[in-house]
Amino acid sequence: MKAVDIASILSGKYTDERVLIRGWLHNMRSSGGIHFLLIRDGTGIIQCTMKKNTVKDEIFKEAKDLTQESSLEIIGSVREDKRAPRGYEIKVEDMKVFHRAEEGYPIAKKYHGPDFLLDNRHLWIRSQKMQTILRIRAKFLEAAREWFKANGFVEFHSPTIITAACEGGATLFPVKYFDREAYLTQSWQLYAEAAIASLGKIYTIAPSFRAEKSRTRRHLTEYWHLEVEIPWCDLKGIMKVQEDLLAYILDSLCEEMPGELEYLGRSPDELRRMKPPYERITYDKAVKILNEEGIFFKWGDDITWTHEKILTERFNKPFFITHFPKNVKAFYHKPDPERPKVTLSADLLAPEGYGEITGGGQRIDSLEELLERIKEEGLNPEDYKWYIDLRRYGSVPHSGFGLGVERTISWICKLEHIRDAIAFPRLINRVYP
Ligand code: 4AD
Ligand code: MG
Repeated sequence: MKAVDIASILSGKYTDERVLIRGWLHNMRSSGGIHFLLIRDGTGIIQCTMKKNTVKDEIFKEAKDLTQESSLEIIGSVREDKRAPRGYEIKVEDMKVFHRAEEGYPIAKKYHGPDFLLDNRHLWIRSQKMQTILRIRAKFLEAAREWFKANGFVEFHSPTIITAACEGGATLFPVKYFDREAYLTQSWQLYAEAAIASLGKIYTIAPSFRAEKSRTRRHLTEYWHLEVEIPWCDLKGIMKVQEDLLAYILDSLCEEMPGELEYLGRSPDELRRMKPPYERITYDKAVKILNEEGIFFKWGDDITWTHEKILTERFNKPFFITHFPKNVKAFYHKPDPERPKVTLSADLLAPEGYGEITGGGQRIDSLEELLERIKEEGLNPEDYKWYIDLRRYGSVPHSGFGLGVERTISWICKLEHIRDAIAFPRLINRVYP
């Protein structure tokens, strides 16, 4: 007999049929000669009822002493039953135990602190909360790839081990690379700018690394970065791409995972209302709002999380902040020809206090301007030789952005901390398990 997945049973596909399922014992109780086994297989959870005289005696006995998380196989017939937790149940005819889990599964049915759950992350990812988030995350990336395919983007991969900073030296992770020092990449961007002359419109979904020394609810040291680079595209164009991509992803999630979103406390209708166009405010306007709110903030200061939190209170859907000053953005951002002290840059901020989820904008395409900015920032032009070369051989106006996958998932799933948007988070004080 071929195993079927629980999700299809719960969709009604196998009602009144005999099926075989495989999974883990999520929970169990017994009463009046019946065992109620909750079985989890990764696609869903279903109640299986085992009556004393409908299975062999030894099976009934074995089930009685089964431990939580034991792995097993069940054969039985599917019944629709309004009283069952998810509307369906399986009447057990036979059972085979693959592995009887040890007694004392560490994740008990009681409150555990965050450190305990992080130490036991390899087990905690089986919880319904983590399972739901991880499924939404997978669907998020699936939808992104669908959108890229439908819009003619090519997936492109850049190296992880690199030699020059893209986003400033302060958050570079050094790597001992034989007899020299190299770093873990912060962004694919510089390589992506090379690749657009080979492939045209491109994207990637890959890990980026930041040696973030602060403990916050929104910084990981290793995070997944969804990045896009497009030739012949300006600031306006790249903002439109972000709107369209995000709208497509949100629609797909509302359409395909409404129950999962609800489970996490996010109403799909709420997300549906967050349709583009997203409002755009300039950095200047953001400064004005902050000052109105009584915050001491000078033009030229960087907008940090505390500021973003205040700004997001004025919006009920994502919004862009554009035209950041040169000094708060990386060297590659193109200065606005009409007002060179600001750049053609844009961050997308999520509402409800979440803040920045993407950063990007138009890149410098002129050789002279790039050399000048590299000098201004005190960087060594030798480190960027190949990157500078791109402005010598067929330079074009181009733009791109990077979206923090976990930042965006945190917002969509209304998470309190970014660590739950990824299975095995890497934080300043955590690289295990
Ligand atoms: O704003 P950032 O630093 O921009 C770049 O790296 C550009 N080179 C991207 C590009 O234009 N291709 O990072 C982009 C996004 C941020 O908006 C944020 O969502 C996420 O990456 N991010 C982090 N997410 C989790 N933990 C961290 N430590 C993050 N740092 C940035
Ligand atoms: Mg940024």
